[in-house]
Amino acid sequence: MDRGKVFSPPTDDSILLTQFHCEKGVTELGEVDIKNLTKRFGDIVAVNHMELSVPEGSIFGLLGPNGAGKSTTTRLLCTLLRPHEGTASVGGHDILEEPVAVRQITGVLPEEGNHTLYPTMTAYENLQYFARLYGVDETEISGRIEELLTFMDLWERKDDKAGELSTGNRQRLALCRAMLHRPRVLLLDEPTSALDPIAAKRVRELIMSLANTYRQTFFINSHNLGEVQRMCDRIAIIDDGRILLSGETHELRSRLQSKQEFVIRVSGEPEKAAALAESSHFVESVSTGVDSISVVINDPIENNWRLMQDLLAGGIRIIEFAEDEATLEDLYLEVVKGGRD
Ligand SMILES: Nc1ncnc2c1ncn2[C@@H]1O[C@H](COP(=O)(O)OP(=O)(O)O)[C@@H](O)[C@H]1O
Ligand SMILES: [Mg+2]
Repeated sequence: MDRGKVFSPPTDDSILLTQFHCEKGVTELGEVDIKNLTKRFGDIVAVNHMELSVPEGSIFGLLGPNGAGKSTTTRLLCTLLRPHEGTASVGGHDILEEPVAVRQITGVLPEEGNHTLYPTMTAYENLQYFARLYGVDETEISGRIEELLTFMDLWERKDDKAGELSTGNRQRLALCRAMLHRPRVLLLDEPTSALDPIAAKRVRELIMSLANTYRQTFFINSHNLGEVQRMCDRIAIIDDGRILLSGETHELRSRLQSKQEFVIRVSGEPEKAAALAESSHFVESVSTGVDSISVVINDPIENNWRLMQDLLAGGIRIIEFAEDEATLEDLYLEVVKGGRD
């Protein structure tokens, strides 16, 4: 294949992909280091003096609401954008000084990655085409494609045109593409947002299994707290281009979830249950529903059973006592408030 040839990719993101090729014999492990990284779009500071270090072999989650700067960070890391200030290194290669090396060892699932496939080519042909662009050895291509498509439950779809696949399947195909050349660092921008729950779970399993097997480093953008908590061993929370806090997931979880909302379904008399809950010093707020109350409890591990005992002692029949999964918004507001106080 002529590497100097200019291809016509379907979107900007694929321009990047055409310049990747497989780096053989690399044993060094991946790592992402961000120093003072800043990117502006006019008056908007999309990435604001960011400092971040992701250890080798991590499954790292960059968590934040829409517009926080996650995709811009990814686009800077894969050298699609140039920073205004600062720099970063991926697998020890500086994004400004060694962009080609960075591209060689990086796999990218761009935001809306499923739109960056060729719709009139089959799933198999898309992967074959991109594998050749990546420089994957011709003798390895068919085996690698079969391995990835099988893993992603897409093997039976190999002859379907990419444009005729469901959004979920296209996203999985885009994920296969990101992994074709066995990159050391994978940058996945909202990898499961287009997937149904079963496919999303499969993708999470794949990511975790790859990370465990090959010790690749995963840098995953997501606005989904539950997903990040399940998948990632390290998390940073970003908003307005700034990292608000970062650390290991288990540390952050206990910091973020020191208060939690629970829904208690009761058999009759929710008002009485609410009055009992309100009188507990560890209950921060209570709201009453038709057959349930919602309570925000401080230090729930310590205090849940106390509330349950108080309610039972007060003659309330509890049908269900369930954690109301904290939304990112709740947690995020708590973090922002903490950061600005
Ligand atoms: N190409 C662009 N031109 C102008 N503004 C942009 C561009 N890309 C991103 N932005 C702005 O930068 C901010 C961060 O965007 P983005 O990185 O896409 O956030 P996220 O991925 O977290 O949703 C947003 O305010 C967005 O509107
Ligand atoms: Mg984004």
